[in-house]
Amino acid sequence: MATLGRPLLLPWLLALALALALALASPPSLARPAPFAMRISCGAREDVHTPPTNTLWFKDFAYSGGIPANATRPSFTTPPLKTLRYFPLSDGPENCYNLNGVPIGHYSVRTFFGLIAQPSFDNEPLFDISVEGTQIGSLSSGWTDHDDQVFAEARVFLADSTASLCLHSTGHGDPAIVSIEILQVDDRAYYFGPDWGRGTILRTVKRLSCGNGKPKFDADYSGDQWGGDRFWDSVTTFQSGYDQERSTEESIAQASLPPNFYPEGLYQTAIIGTSQQPDLDYTMDVDPNRNYSVWLHFAEIDALVTGAGERVFDVLINGDTVFRGVDIIKMSGDHYTALVLNTTVPVSGRTLTIRFLPKTGNIAIINAIEVFEIIIAESKTSVDEVRTLQTLKDELMLPLRFGWNGDPCVPQQHPWSGIDCRFNSTSNNWVIDGLGLNNQGLRGFLSPNVSGLRHLQSINLSGNSIQGSIPSSLGTIASLELLDLSYNFLNGSIPESLGQLTSLKKLNLNGNSLSGRVPAALGGRLLHGASFNFTDNAGLCGIPGLPTCGPHLSAGAKVGIAFGACVALLLLVMCAVCWWKRRQNILRTQQIAAREAPYAKARTHFSRDIQLARHQNHGHARSAAENGPSLLS
Ligand SMILES: *[C@@H]1O[C@H](CO)[C@@H](O)[C@H](O)[C@H]1NC(C)=O
Ligand SMILES: *[C@@H]1O[C@H](CO)[C@@H](O)[C@H](O)[C@H]1NC(C)=O
Ligand SMILES: *[C@@H]1O[C@H](CO)[C@@H](O)[C@H](O)[C@H]1NC(C)=O
Ligand SMILES: *[C@@H]1O[C@H](CO)[C@@H](O)[C@H](O)[C@H]1NC(C)=O
Ligand SMILES: *[C@@H]1O[C@H](CO)[C@@H](O)[C@H](O)[C@H]1NC(C)=O
Ligand SMILES: *[C@@H]1O[C@H](CO)[C@@H](O)[C@H](O)[C@H]1NC(C)=O
Ligand SMILES: *[C@@H]1O[C@H](CO)[C@@H](O)[C@H](O)[C@H]1NC(C)=O
Ligand SMILES: *[C@@H]1O[C@H](CO)[C@@H](O)[C@H](O)[C@H]1NC(C)=O
Repeated sequence: MATLGRPLLLPWLLALALALALALASPPSLARPAPFAMRISCGAREDVHTPPTNTLWFKDFAYSGGIPANATRPSFTTPPLKTLRYFPLSDGPENCYNLNGVPIGHYSVRTFFGLIAQPSFDNEPLFDISVEGTQIGSLSSGWTDHDDQVFAEARVFLADSTASLCLHSTGHGDPAIVSIEILQVDDRAYYFGPDWGRGTILRTVKRLSCGNGKPKFDADYSGDQWGGDRFWDSVTTFQSGYDQERSTEESIAQASLPPNFYPEGLYQTAIIGTSQQPDLDYTMDVDPNRNYSVWLHFAEIDALVTGAGERVFDVLINGDTVFRGVDIIKMSGDHYTALVLNTTVPVSGRTLTIRFLPKTGNIAIINAIEVFEIIIAESKTSVDEVRTLQTLKDELMLPLRFGWNGDPCVPQQHPWSGIDCRFNSTSNNWVIDGLGLNNQGLRGFLSPNVSGLRHLQSINLSGNSIQGSIPSSLGTIASLELLDLSYNFLNGSIPESLGQLTSLKKLNLNGNSLSGRVPAALGGRLLHGASFNFTDNAGLCGIPGLPTCGPHLSAGAKVGIAFGACVALLLLVMCAVCWWKRRQNILRTQQIAAREAPYAKARTHFSRDIQLARHQNHGHARSAAENGPSLLS
């Protein structure tokens, strides 16, 4: 997992110094400092400045994953950057940017997508995007044709000075990313009620400026930076021929207020009904069974409507009245004055219809519409377990195609392959309860650190080329029910500690090079219906069905035996040396005898006679001793 933090630190510090210098230079009346902003041009080898505001984009050169390439911009709304970074499937399905140095706060996080500028890459990739483990976007077929689908955006609370942004492959082309923007917004931005807060994320679904012929960013409207440089798509009619555009040059009061700092220009255009068709209907496609936060923007910009009670209408969403008797002048206090209303609606179907239904004699008006999906932020995986998985990834030599970047369990739509997750609602985090990496060509070894995954119920590493011994720490994973290490190159003996695994129901160690005694506790378990397989190993022994082991010897006994063997060997060598010396003597005598025959022969006989006589004497003495006490003894 690569980190952009360090390479970006220097430019960020420079930017900070610059911002500080500017802040000091500007008059103290501008109390509010500029919001934090980090912009990244993906695939760029140098920092980039873009017109019209000379915006600074940091390069992402030091990022280790993915491939930089030239980009084609699918839409004019895409920032004028020339490069992108794409992630071939061989890099794994999950690829992440981990951005450091982001102060705690509320942010608008936005990423733009692009196409690789090479004829061989002409198809549109489809993939998902997550921020801090929560999925905030999913590119669907045809996204390149829609200005407001070439980016994903969400309002997120960032609590730990880092922002993790991941792209999740869906198998349709290589994910490709042009830019990342982390733009600070007000601490109460888009407050919609008690459910708003650190645990919720607002995914931008639609942002529409009504009666305006040209899509615009906040910056194009000269909006406040604290608004997060929103993109406003444009619509001039909901139903051609049944409504009309309206616009004004008058300035609008109370537009750019905290917490959302809407640009004034947003309220200078509107769509209104006609006398034949006084109501307005806007329908959009949405994902079913979600909660949506809907924000409606009004300003009375019709010169003919001058007082309270002259334009009164209800607002209905999917048939339910959400605002009754909206009277813009009465509620905002004046004409040419902004009014923002927000409401939260659950939607079960695939469309969301907003209806502006005027009272008799009136016609409806709407200036802008925002729709967000309210997403409950995902809880993350236990930090210790993520660290352990990273250790295992290295030590098992997990192939690159697994990826294993970002969070293992979330977004729930994209868990890492080869692991099973379980949510613990007490500790409010995810834990790993299964490791299934059978037949994946793993060539490393099983780290003792595997016991850091304390909630594992099953481990299947069957059919790999894992070497070394079975770590005895496995015996501390008390919840383990299934352990399949069959068909690997494991050697050494089975650790005694496995006998402590009282939940173990299935243990396959067959097809390895294990040797030695099987822990007796495991043998006992067989009586209770567990299924263990120890066949096809170098030499296991000690439980029914396997050979009996040799006598069990203590270390002391082994030393004793070794010592005894040495002494025996020494004696044997001494005997051999004696025998050889004697034999040499005999041979020498025989050679001498052959030379000086008669004399030598006589001497030999003589010595033999003496020996005989000695034996006889000795024999007499012994029989005397056996017959009774003797003076000789
Ligand atoms: C990108 O375009 C530039 C010219 O604009 C060219 O020099 C460069 O080789 C291109 N890079 C790639 C990776 O195609
Ligand atoms: C959104 O509406 C709720 C009540 O429905 C209100 O409490 C809240 O202040 C509104 N938010 C803004 C930013 O106006
Ligand atoms: C929508 O909101 C309601 C009330 O807050 C909640 O009970 C429900 O679970 C939410 N639905 C979804 C899909 O988030
Ligand atoms: C959930 O977490 C709590 C606190 O860490 C722990 O005490 C409990 O045993 C866990 N529950 C499960 C089912 O793992
Ligand atoms: C482990 O995976 C293999 C497939 O590679 C399967 O045959 C075996 O049954 C699995 N082990 C257990 C205990 O489920
Ligand atoms: C196990 O993890 C610790 C830190 O969590 C690390 O220092 C150690 O090197 C790891 N052991 C192995 C064998 O990788
Ligand atoms: C097990 O195999 C490894 C090499 O794969 C070797 O270094 C180690 O000495 C072996 N251990 C035993 C106990 O045979
Ligand atoms: C144990 O594994 C061997 C292959 O190594 C297989 O032939 C045998 O059927 C297995 N025994 C059981 C009881 O599963």
